[in-house]
Amino acid sequence: MSVQPQVRLGINLDHIMTIRQARFTAYPDLKQAIEMVEHVGADSITLHLREDRRHIQDEDIVLAKQVNKSNMNFEMAATGEMRDIALNIKPQDCCIVPEHREELTTEGGLDVVKHQSHIKELVAALSAGNIKVSLFIEPNLKIIDAAVKTGAPVIELHTGTYAGTQGLAQQKELQRIEVATKHAISLGLVVNAGHGLHYENVSSIANIVDMYELNIGHSIVARALFVGLGQAVKEMRSAMDCIE
Ligand code: PXP
Repeated sequence: MSVQPQVRLGINLDHIMTIRQARFTAYPDLKQAIEMVEHVGADSITLHLREDRRHIQDEDIVLAKQVNKSNMNFEMAATGEMRDIALNIKPQDCCIVPEHREELTTEGGLDVVKHQSHIKELVAALSAGNIKVSLFIEPNLKIIDAAVKTGAPVIELHTGTYAGTQGLAQQKELQRIEVATKHAISLGLVVNAGHGLHYENVSSIANIVDMYELNIGHSIVARALFVGLGQAVKEMRSAMDCIE
């Protein structure tokens, strides 16, 4: 009986940094966050340096590469600025995502059919820098076929629609992701997935045959509040009660 290897867990740290950027404080500390998630078994860390720098900052990327002991996945828009930053920092992985200024979070996947030649050039430049490139795309067979033509070895399937639906609609989307995964693997791609995954909806995606890695951020940071809020209050009480 063959045993399916454990799906890797990549932790997206953007939302921890959103808290820091809301006040421009020195905390929460990125180095501490990286060390903590790696200590408990994160296989990879993801940071998305957005054009508007709303959470991760340029210096965070440098620091993350220095302290990261697992694997660093640099999420980036398909721009020359981001390509140059990636080639300078040299993370192990880059995930190319679409980016729109006003969006709350990454909405939809890359339109690889429309932007195939631009993405192909970008993949070639990053690959020449020894970076493994992944394309964040919808679970759509035509887009997967276009992704193969860009030379990217990895795709990350957008699970946002799956996460945002329920019942029959969610089952249909799950099937679409399963079919897309099988198709991509038959073409030699490595398949990751992510976006909107949380504790209740993750297992169906994690159980897809040959799924390589899931990238998850928001739900973990949200859950961390309630796993840690009581302790944080106790520590503040004790700091207040400390006699000098
Ligand atoms: N993968 C990609 C490409 C993303 O853009 C995001 C969100 O930044 C995630 C995974 C993680 O999504 P979430 O924070 O909803 O878990």
